[in-house]
Amino acid sequence: MENITIPKHIGIIMDGNGRWAKKRMLPRNMGHKKGAEVFKDITRYCNELGLESVTFYAFSTENWKRPQEEIDGLMKLFKQYLIDAFDYEKENNKVIFLGDKSAFNQELRELMTEIESKTADRTGMKLNLALNYGSRDEIVHACKEIAQKVSEGSMSVDDIDENSFADHLYTKGQPDPDFILRPSGEKRISNFLLWQCAYSEFIYMDVLWPDFTRKDLDSAIAEFNSRNRRFGGV
Ligand code: FPP
Repeated sequence: MENITIPKHIGIIMDGNGRWAKKRMLPRNMGHKKGAEVFKDITRYCNELGLESVTFYAFSTENWKRPQEEIDGLMKLFKQYLIDAFDYEKENNKVIFLGDKSAFNQELRELMTEIESKTADRTGMKLNLALNYGSRDEIVHACKEIAQKVSEGSMSVDDIDENSFADHLYTKGQPDPDFILRPSGEKRISNFLLWQCAYSEFIYMDVLWPDFTRKDLDSAIAEFNSRNRRFGGV
């Protein structure tokens, strides 16, 4: 990939696990299992490419509506990947969970908090995992924090601007995503990084997430490079 600008931040909606499993007459959780392996490999590749941040949408605030069996399977997978399948000791990633942790069981909540604090001083790529994440929920959460500060007097109404607002989002301190990638053929944003994607490019691909490869990420980056970003200018 010569003469190519590597983006600073990519947002990825890991979609199509269910359809991948259905095509093979397998239970949906097998699609998630394969999707988790792809997540791990693509994370490694993002490290190799030298990204500043990558954000994976792994579980939305709406995903609790799924059958209990599927939710249980996903929770097991998150736990497994958070504990041993992803080597937090070796990689230099700062792991940040985007979303409201309070909905998870105590074991998972403690694990998430432990991983965040253990990796907080890391200097490598920020690995954002959106778990129980919804962008509207994130924005409401930011509004409440700001309102609380204003009512306590530690912030004034005049202090509220785009930058101070963004500092109250889960992605505080990180660049906005250069592009949002959604595989699986769906063309929706599904409550993902609504504030942060104001100037992001959207790249939709037909491949299902469990079939997604490093080559597909190369193609997405090449597509991003072919876009002409003007940020509202001419
Ligand atoms: C959407 O596909 C995918 C999800 C709701 C789960 C994504 C989770 C993983 C890939 C697990 C790995 C994550 C970590 C952090 C270990 P879908 O089920 O909606 O697919 P469909 O639209 O084909 O039904």
